[in-house]
Amino acid sequence: MKVTVVGAGAVGATCADNIARKELASELVLLDIKEGVAEGKAIDMMQTAALLGFDTKIKGVTNDYAATEHSDVVVVTSGLPRKPGMTREELIGVNAGIVKSVTENILKHSPDTIIIVVSNPMDTMNYLTLQTSGLPKNRVLGMGGALDSARFRYYLSQELGCSPADLNAVVIGGHGDTTMIPLIKHATWNSTPVTNFLSQEQQDKIVAATMVGGATLTKLIGTSAWYAPGAGTAAMVESILRDEKKLISCGVALDGEYGQSDISLVVPVIIGRNGWERILDFKLSEAEQAAFNKSADAVRNMNDVLKTL
Ligand SMILES: NC(=O)c1ccc[n+]([C@@H]2O[C@H](COP(=O)([O-])OP(=O)(O)OC[C@H]3O[C@@H](n4cnc5c(N)ncnc54)[C@H](O)[C@@H]3O)[C@@H](O)[C@H]2O)c1
Repeated sequence: MKVTVVGAGAVGATCADNIARKELASELVLLDIKEGVAEGKAIDMMQTAALLGFDTKIKGVTNDYAATEHSDVVVVTSGLPRKPGMTREELIGVNAGIVKSVTENILKHSPDTIIIVVSNPMDTMNYLTLQTSGLPKNRVLGMGGALDSARFRYYLSQELGCSPADLNAVVIGGHGDTTMIPLIKHATWNSTPVTNFLSQEQQDKIVAATMVGGATLTKLIGTSAWYAPGAGTAAMVESILRDEKKLISCGVALDGEYGQSDISLVVPVIIGRNGWERILDFKLSEAEQAAFNKSADAVRNMNDVLKTL
């Protein structure tokens, strides 16, 4: 199996590191536009192989798309990250140009690949990729829900005093501070609803912390986070390459599901060898559906900006 990660910055390199450590692919190409960066990080990672015992061959290249040919999966992390005080939406102008040209270059060498879009604003970048790639919709996935759901589980575990691994919790909607919807009424601690153990005040606090989880870290670090984004993306790559059929919430093209069309939004999907294979209907309450529709309106407004670029 071969994976390419475009963008050897914080998220791309962390994602590549996770893929190599888990030996998800035999070949891994790291590509960046900055001369030498991908080459250097690839060699650095390869020098951990003797210590960690993995066999994945990692190659770094500067803008050499020929090296990416026949990739089974391509992860797109190229683009500007947020600075403190910025929203993901403010990145649209620069990142749309980058994501579009990267997608075109990738498809010249891997026309049937599966693309995972990480660059922000992810919902709009995934929509752009769906439009520009011409790939079947199941082969284009946005990473946002995997991260936001992991953050949700973290905040729930802090309040419950339990392991995040014992929790099932899903975030849907848009991948923005005001558009994501942590589905707390659907979250369980093993099989018991978490709401059995939390006051309304605690629930509200967890939901609010999850929604600004990214901004909280950007403020602390000075740029956006990378460990959980890299791990979340690698989990999607793993479910594809190992055909695991994991349920992960991802940005996908909706065609009537959850009452929306002509848009990419985060919903729970089953991920396997063909990309996302099935959307799960979580039977939203009236309030949850109204929040989802509101997110869709905000994301649609953002998508409209693409027409003006
Ligand atoms: N979807 C999510 O949940 C999520 C989470 C975190 C970050 N992000 C987004 O991912 C992107 C990357 O974040 P980061 O922290 O790794 O940023 P970063 O600045 O560390 O890395 C970005 C890399 O992209 C490279 N790049 C820029 N233009 C390129 C091009 N045309 N071709 C190839 N490479 C190019 C840069 O040289 C840089 O190395 C940002 O847009 C960020 O907002 C998304």
